[in-house]
Amino acid sequence: MALAGTNAAAPRPRASRMPARLDLLESGTGLLLALFMLVHTLFAASILLGPEASATMARAFEGYYLFGRSYPAIVGAFTTLIVLMFVVHAVLAMRKAPSGWAAYSRFHGNRGRLAHADTTLWWWQVVTGAVVGLTATIHLYHILANPGGLGPYESAQQVWSGRMWPLYLVLLPAVELHVGIGLYRLAMKWGWFEDDRSTRTRRRLKLAMWGLIGSYVLLGLTALGAYAKLGYEQALDPSTAPAMHAP
Ligand code: HEM
Repeated sequence: MALAGTNAAAPRPRASRMPARLDLLESGTGLLLALFMLVHTLFAASILLGPEASATMARAFEGYYLFGRSYPAIVGAFTTLIVLMFVVHAVLAMRKAPSGWAAYSRFHGNRGRLAHADTTLWWWQVVTGAVVGLTATIHLYHILANPGGLGPYESAQQVWSGRMWPLYLVLLPAVELHVGIGLYRLAMKWGWFEDDRSTRTRRRLKLAMWGLIGSYVLLGLTALGAYAKLGYEQALDPSTAPAMHAP
């Protein structure tokens, strides 16, 4: 029985589930975007197999092998979906970044005192997230504003003559770092591989993370070089670019 003057039997206010739900949504959109990005880099790297292989990928993405003709609207619809996920993920992630100078300097003071490697990785997530937010928005707008612009010769022209390569040189390492660190942090946070978060698990996951980041940055840069080279050759001699649109 509750004693007079105490609140022993008073019902405790139920903790809101909203922060947990938002966290789940942030992790879920982050995971989907990371998986998309891993496939996207492979898709972009098809240029290394030659323009024909890359054109086949572009046509497949536009539904050519399914419907017998290309529908750039498929790319448009898919890109819109990616943009929506991108916005939801960015808004949810931003709520955790230090806002204002006081919060920022308190965070850096604590980070220096703790010297905790995973906290430093989290900070890199904030920094690369901001870079990706800015540069990927330009890229996504460009894709949406150029329906039917998918293909090796179109891309090569954009990368070289359209001066997109400096943007990609910034976006590429930032996004691969963001994806690699993000996947590591998801694995640690949700305990994907082992139930403990032991030093050994962390060390193994970090090794996998740096391996993934290193190989994807290398692959992406090699592909970017191939687009730039093709674009440069096209600029010198436009007759080297065959008919620029998929059937
Ligand atoms: C569905 C949406 C997307 C489509 C259709 C798409 C398509 C493309 C294409 C065709 C290229 C080749 C160059 C060009 O044509 O400009 C490219 C390059 C690139 N994209 Fe995307 N992209 C999409 C979303 C994204 C997102 C969300 C990111 C990063 C957050 C991204 C990062 C990059 C990077 C870094 C490159 C150049 C690096 C490389 O050569 O590997 N893209 N993209």
